This record gives sequence, structure tokens and C-alpha cells, in this order.
Amino acid sequence: MAHRVTINGETREIDAPGDMPLLWALRNELGMVGTKFGCGIGMCGACTVHVDGQATRSCSMPLSAVADKQVSTVEALEQTPVGQALQRAWLDGDVMQCGYCQAGQLMNATALLTNNPNPSDGEIDAAMQGNICRCACYKRIHAAIAKVAR
Ligand code: FES
Repeated sequence: MAHRVTINGETREIDAPGDMPLLWALRNELGMVGTKFGCGIGMCGACTVHVDGQATRSCSMPLSAVADKQVSTVEALEQTPVGQALQRAWLDGDVMQCGYCQAGQLMNATALLTNNPNPSDGEIDAAMQGNICRCACYKRIHAAIAKVAR
């Protein structure tokens, strides 16, 4: 069955089962591989996208649940001022090591700063604590977000 989803401002028809996770619809049906598979069970945050502006784990979101919603992925990160600023801060702060989790980190951070432009250190930690980084770049991730926030 075809599902109509707006992704990065473009309406797409995806002919796939409604229970297919959005992550696989993005990666396998649309070839948008910026969104990463980490755990597949909603525990790591690597697959984070925005659904109607809220950070959402695409591995745990069925395709049928995002019909007629606005989905944003890391491919559109630079289309927003907050996304641009975070990308710059990530590069300036040399945040990444292996980089695998970083799309999800950036998408979660973008949602945070879009909804709360001046979070406290505690609010940054609370918002980001579910995004796992196995290189443990947590201090640099926090510093980059704090730099954009202030
Ligand atoms: Fe979705 Fe880990 S792959 S939360």
C-alpha cells in the first residue's frame, strides 16, 4: 500500500507495508541513508529524525504513523539556521570520532534548540542522554550544543 509522507518538504509516495519502520522506508525505499541503524529497538538514538518538529526514533515509528506528517532528516539539516549553527559548532569543536551516531545526535540537538533556544546544562544533558555514542564524545557534543545555545 502506498503511503504519502512529506520528507524534507517534498511529498513522497512510499509503496511499502504500513508497519515498516520509517527508518527502513527512508534508507531502503528512498535511498536516504543519512539516518542510521544502531539498535533497532528505540534505545540508542542513531536513527533520530524529526516528525512534526519533534525528535523521533525512526526505527520505532511505523510508516503508517507518519502519513500526512512532516518528516525531516539529517539530509535537510542545513536548511535551518539552528541546523547550520550546530553543524558549524560540530566542526569547530572537532566533535566526531567514528561519526556513526552523529546524524542522530545532530537531529536530537536541533530539535532541542529549536524548541528551547537557551537550555541550561542540565536541560542539554537531559535532552541528549538517550543518544548513545560509543566513542564517548559526550563532552564535546555538550560543548557544541552549549556554544550554539549561548
Ligand atoms: Fe533507533 Fe537505535 S536504531 S534508537
